[in-house]
Amino acid sequence: MTHKLSVFISGASAGIGLAVAERFYSQGYQVIICGRNPDRLHIAQQKMPEIDTYVCDISDKEAVKALSEIIIRKYGALDILINNGGAFQPGQVHTEPDTVFEQMIATNLNSAYYFTKSLLPPMIAQKSGTIVNICSIASIKAYPNGGSYTISKFAMLGLGKVLREEMKPYGIRVINILPGAVLTDSWAGTTLPESRFIPVEDVAEIVQMSCMLSNRTVVEDIVVRPFEGDL
Ligand SMILES: NC(=O)c1ccc[n+]([C@@H]2O[C@H](COP(=O)([O-])OP(=O)(O)OC[C@H]3O[C@@H](n4cnc5c(N)ncnc54)[C@H](OP(=O)(O)O)[C@@H]3O)[C@@H](O)[C@H]2O)c1
Repeated sequence: MTHKLSVFISGASAGIGLAVAERFYSQGYQVIICGRNPDRLHIAQQKMPEIDTYVCDISDKEAVKALSEIIIRKYGALDILINNGGAFQPGQVHTEPDTVFEQMIATNLNSAYYFTKSLLPPMIAQKSGTIVNICSIASIKAYPNGGSYTISKFAMLGLGKVLREEMKPYGIRVINILPGAVLTDSWAGTTLPESRFIPVEDVAEIVQMSCMLSNRTVVEDIVVRPFEGDL
């Protein structure tokens, strides 16, 4: 029996994560995903019968650690970890309730930090693997009404840069993807035309292609924008 390469994608019951899951699934990977909504996970499972799905609130550190233990017990060292799960809440630092900041940090940053820390040990032991962080244009550009989201995404980019240096002795490469506006549920209700957004499949293709390169190469930080520019 041939061993399937494995990829875990956080928050992948919809949007970019789901498109990335579909892409890797179509290439024969063992795909593992999580999300909060069991109905969405069930739909993903129906589309991709061999996918492994878990209900997990990634803003909950203990839930992230518990799921990571399950994944390690079942799959050992992952070939690819994709820190994708995230959410956007509008707000300005000087007026928003503290809960916006706390929620953005917990969902967008802490999840990536704890999944990475928990899933890394077998990858380090194996001296191989790829970690992809789905950051954002908001990792390098401040949005006036995206205060805490922007803070969380700047920090996520920093996390990836730090990890990249830390993981060099272990042969693990770290890739940061910084997309601009991608048409997903995050943009529900927008009146802008589809043509102003990056297609979700393009992001999935970029992620997969970046992971396919030889282990002598790392695509470090990729900025991806809508052709006509940021929204
Ligand atoms: N769309 C864009 O324009 C854009 C641009 C740049 C970067 N990004 C980043 O790309 C990533 C994916 O965004 P998206 O647009 O694909 O979002 P989306 O369509 O809203 O999907 C978000 C996914 O994350 C999951 N999720 C959200 N909060 C979660 C939580 N607390 N616990 C577990 N799962 C959670 C959702 O599942 P459940 O609801 O079932 O939990 C869903 O599967 C995010 O990190 C986002 O910041 C998006």
